[in-house]
Amino acid sequence: MGILVIEGETRLKGRVTISGAKNAVLAVLPATLLAEGETIIENSPGINDVRVMGQILAALGAEVKENGSGFKINPGRVYSQSPPLELVKKLRASSLLLGPLLARYGQAEIVMPGGCNIGPRPLDQHIKGLRALGAEVKIERGFIWARAKKLKGAPVYLDVTSVGATENIMMAACLAEGKTVIENAAKEPEIVDIANLLNAMGASVKGAGTDVIRIQGVKHLRGARHTIIPDRIEAGTFMIAAAATRGEVTIENVIPEHLEPVIAKLREAGARVEVGEDSIKVTGCEGTCQPLDIKTLPYPGFPTDLQSPMTALLTTAAGTSIIKENIFENRFRHVDEFKRMGAQIKVEGRTAVVEGVDFLSGARVRATDLRAGAALIIAALMARGETIIQGTEHIDRGYENITGKFRALGAHIRRED
Ligand code: UD1
Repeated sequence: MGILVIEGETRLKGRVTISGAKNAVLAVLPATLLAEGETIIENSPGINDVRVMGQILAALGAEVKENGSGFKINPGRVYSQSPPLELVKKLRASSLLLGPLLARYGQAEIVMPGGCNIGPRPLDQHIKGLRALGAEVKIERGFIWARAKKLKGAPVYLDVTSVGATENIMMAACLAEGKTVIENAAKEPEIVDIANLLNAMGASVKGAGTDVIRIQGVKHLRGARHTIIPDRIEAGTFMIAAAATRGEVTIENVIPEHLEPVIAKLREAGARVEVGEDSIKVTGCEGTCQPLDIKTLPYPGFPTDLQSPMTALLTTAAGTSIIKENIFENRFRHVDEFKRMGAQIKVEGRTAVVEGVDFLSGARVRATDLRAGAALIIAALMARGETIIQGTEHIDRGYENITGKFRALGAHIRRED
């Protein structure tokens, strides 16, 4: 397992190009199972989670050709609906195989997936939706087991706005008989991206990006060509890093509308944010940033995945910030690591109170999950002295070439064994 060694007090400067969205491609890859023919995926990020999903599809029998920033997938020879346990355990998003496998092959058997340690992540809404479409779903000895001779379209109301459940049900409903209406659906841009691919394959998905999605089932889907949208969370990470280090960074290949809450909050903190057509320039706060109140919410609210990077910025703000985590109840494990660097943060339940300090100091810290890892890089760039980050495997799951991208912006960051 490697470590990252980072020299602090660096002002990031320059340009960075954002990769394809991890959370889109992790659903797009399972969606390719629905097609009778080859699907070509472009602008896929070179990250471990995506590699694992590719390996899972190959293990099921699909023909998977990877070429760095893309995939060609042909599910013609899929013979298994039981993804290998050791791969599924590595990847929370493997739950997204349930809907496509069930819809195309009538069955799926998946061990309860792994992923980031950010609190309980139940699958009850996924299961509720698939049952509504007529599937028999059981959980036995840690496995989810689903069967259906033929799925039938139905109304599904989600009790919790879940990105994964919306995607799973939407994908399954494409090959169901008749009409499915998902109410209280998640509205994340990644869902729109997947719906666009499904429609290019011949599906009829309407309303993706709103809280009511209507799907008219079709008999067959064909292969298609699809370009993944830019990763708004990676973009947000670099935007926050630029503001936190009082740098000046142009973030390229972004869809600015996807980043509105981040743009608004960084402006409120005192950073300058200039929005172009497909780029955003962030210039850090003059002096110290202002404290903020942040509430994480489903899209278009402030994304939970940027809560820890934003907390890093606020550790040295000129006053007290309040951060309320409304999505994942246990997503404050990074706080103890920030405290090792001199941050003053109190957590009570779902709320963190951050008292801005004059400066952070380098320390030996551990990335407890993917986004916490990115947040620690930002804290390390802000801090005086050297920081050593352990747990880099979490970071590599979801950020493409993160050290190279930060180094190109002037960061002193290196990997060691
Ligand atoms: C996705 C993203 C993740 C992001 C999250 C919220 C992927 C691969 N991951 O995760 O990066 O942090 O959205 O934006 O796209 N819930 C239930 N029952 C369910 C499903 C979810 O109670 O059946 C709850 C969860 O515990 C959580 C909330 O709903 O509190 C939101 O979770 P969900 O939107 O499903 O997150 P993921 O799809 O797992």
